[in-house]
Order: sequence, then C-alpha cells, then structure tokens
Amino acid sequence: MEKRLLLALHRRPVGRPPFWFMRQAGRYLPEYQRLRRQEPDFLRFCYTPELALEATLQPLRRFQPDAAILFSDILVVADALGRNVRFVEGQGPVLDPLTGRADIEPLTAEPVETFLAPVYKAVTRIAAALPADVALIGFAGAPWTMALYMIEGKGGTDGGRARTLAYADPEGFAALIAVLVEATVRHLSAQIRHGAEVVQLFDSWAGLLAAEEFRRWVIAPTAEIVRRLRQQHPGIPIIGFPRGAGLLYGEYIRATGVDAVGLDAAVPLEQAAVLQRVCAVQGNLDNILLKVGGPAMDRAIVRLVEVLGGGPFVFNLGHGILPDTPCEHVARIAERLRAFAAA
Ligand code: CP3
Repeated sequence: MEKRLLLALHRRPVGRPPFWFMRQAGRYLPEYQRLRRQEPDFLRFCYTPELALEATLQPLRRFQPDAAILFSDILVVADALGRNVRFVEGQGPVLDPLTGRADIEPLTAEPVETFLAPVYKAVTRIAAALPADVALIGFAGAPWTMALYMIEGKGGTDGGRARTLAYADPEGFAALIAVLVEATVRHLSAQIRHGAEVVQLFDSWAGLLAAEEFRRWVIAPTAEIVRRLRQQHPGIPIIGFPRGAGLLYGEYIRATGVDAVGLDAAVPLEQAAVLQRVCAVQGNLDNILLKVGGPAMDRAIVRLVEVLGGGPFVFNLGHGILPDTPCEHVARIAERLRAFAAA
C-alpha cells in the first residue's frame, strides 16, 4: 500500500486525511528535553546522527503521524555558508549580521554537501528506521527567509534591515538569493538522494514583503528551486510554505508549481478550498488553539476535515507546535483524526 501522505500529495484519493505537525519534535516533549541534555550545543545536536535520529522518532512513538520530518534546522545551511550561527538558550538563533556586498561576494554554496554530511547520514538512518506506512520529509528554509536571518542576525524582527538591503542594493541582494537558491537545491537534493520522500520549503517570513518584492524574492527563487529539483528528481512532491502570503497564495502556487502549499492559520477555509482545486493544501489549525485544547479545538478539527477532507489535504498546523503545548492535546488530535477513518 502506498503511504497516505504521498497519495494525498499526488492528489490521489485517501480514506482519512494524512496528518503530521510542524515542529512535532522539540521542547514540548519531555523525552526531547532529556535527550537534549546529552548535547547542549544545538547545532552539534543536529550534526550527531544518533541524536537526530532519536529526536525524529520520538513524536512517532507517541502520535503515529503519517510523516516523520528530519530533525535538523533551516539555519544549518547558513552555518555551511560560514555565517557563524549560534543558538542561545532562551533567545533562539544568533548570527553575525551580514551587512552588504563585502559579506555577500565571498559566499559560495560549494561546501554544502560535505559540511552537512552528518545531516544526510541522519536521513539515511531515519529512512531505514521508519515504519512502512510513514513518509520521510526533508526540508530547507527558502532563500528569502534564510537571507532574512543572515541579514538581521536573528528572528522575530520586522525584517527591516533585510528589506532595506533588497531595495537599496537589489543586485547585491540578488547575488545573495542566487547563492541561497544553489545551496537549497544542493541541500534538498542530497536529502532526497539519502531517503527523503517529500521536501518542504519553509518561507516563514514571506508575509513581511510588499507584493512586488514577494514576487521577486519569494516566488521567483522558489520557482527556480522547484524547476531544478524536478529535473533531478522527477516525481518528488514539493510542499511550499510561504507563511503570511495572504492574497498572493494563489499566485505563489501557480507560478512556482509546488505540489502542495502550507497554509497559515489566517487563511479562511473557503479560500483554502479554492486553492485546493489547483494543488494539495496542508494546514492550518492555529497553534495557539492546539495549546489551549478543549471543545474549541475539537470543533476546529471537525470543521477543517469537513471543508477540506474531500480534496487533496494534509492535516497540519498553521505554524509549528509551541514549546508550552501539552502533549495530550497533540495526542487528542491524532486520536480524533484516526476516528474519521473508522467512521
Ligand atoms: O519536528 C521538527 O519540525 C524538527 C525539525 C525542525 C526544527 N526547526 C528544530 C528546532 C524544523 C523543521 C525547524 C525549522 C525552522 N527553524 C524554521 C521554519 C519553521 C518555522 O517555525 O517558521 C525556522 C524559522 C527555524 C529557526 C529556528 N530554530 C528558531 C527561530 C529557533 C528558536 C526558537 C524555537 O522555535 O525554538 C530554532 C531552534 C530549534 N529548531 C529548536 C528545535 C527543536 C529548539 C532548540 C532547542 O532544543 O533549544
């Protein structure tokens, strides 16, 4: 039998919708917190295949989702490009901010495959360890979101510095995006060669851009990545997640040719049903509602499946699981979704 996630992404009929959760591994799991103590340096944790394997498998044991996502981080690519990435307890990622052409010109995507070899080793080991009905998702940050972290030096800003550089020196910025396109294709292609069956592009900060800039720095580079991956790996499903794309979701889907689109929680379900005529949709339960749980969460699950479950649909959140989310709420969703199959 074909894996449920792959069926949905190829827009073939499935009984119940497949599900997985963005950030299904991580700090909300007590077993992850215990494992993490073995390697306090987060990047070194990511580069230790046994630890990455174990962190990937932890949520599968609890919730039996239809997919595993490689345990790694989008910022390993910035690390491979030599941008001095650190993860600071209680603060998140910190990078030396890149300020202009002098920092951009020396960048090259060439070291990606050798530098990130431990990540691909983890992919191989995860692929070998997965239950037969679970699909393996590989991932990367999309070029705009990577550029944002590299320029801002951290997340959680309004992207002001990155947007300023893109307007003030569009050629210099285009050179940075070009290196990131090349690095992303290499990184995703290596994950696929080592056993990833689906890839997701996280454009977590796509919603910060003005419309024309969105076309130039989100849609165009994503379209190129999709085209090049398709050439190398025909048939590999690609999920795009341009978080906050709003009115431009439809254009993003048509112009990039992704097989599926991740929708944030602000996208109305009626709109999601329209997008579903063009490609598979994934999402979009509010991650805050998952934290809160209770009858409001139960109602939202039913409504998502009622509105989108008839077409190509992957149940997920609108953004990743938050660290203070009770595991029981996640278990509850998994149980409810399986009940749809029995009904
Ligand atoms: O199950 C999974 O999804 C695990 C793999 C994974 C991680 N990060 C592990 C992680 C994935 C797919 C990511 C993607 C990621 N990383 C994104 C895109 C998705 C999104 O949330 O928008 C982004 C923007 C990052 C960058 C990043 N990494 C931030 C901002 C932070 C700190 C804040 C936070 O959310 O934890 C990280 C650290 C990080 N990445 C942790 C994990 C489990 C926590 C590290 C720890 O153990 O302390």
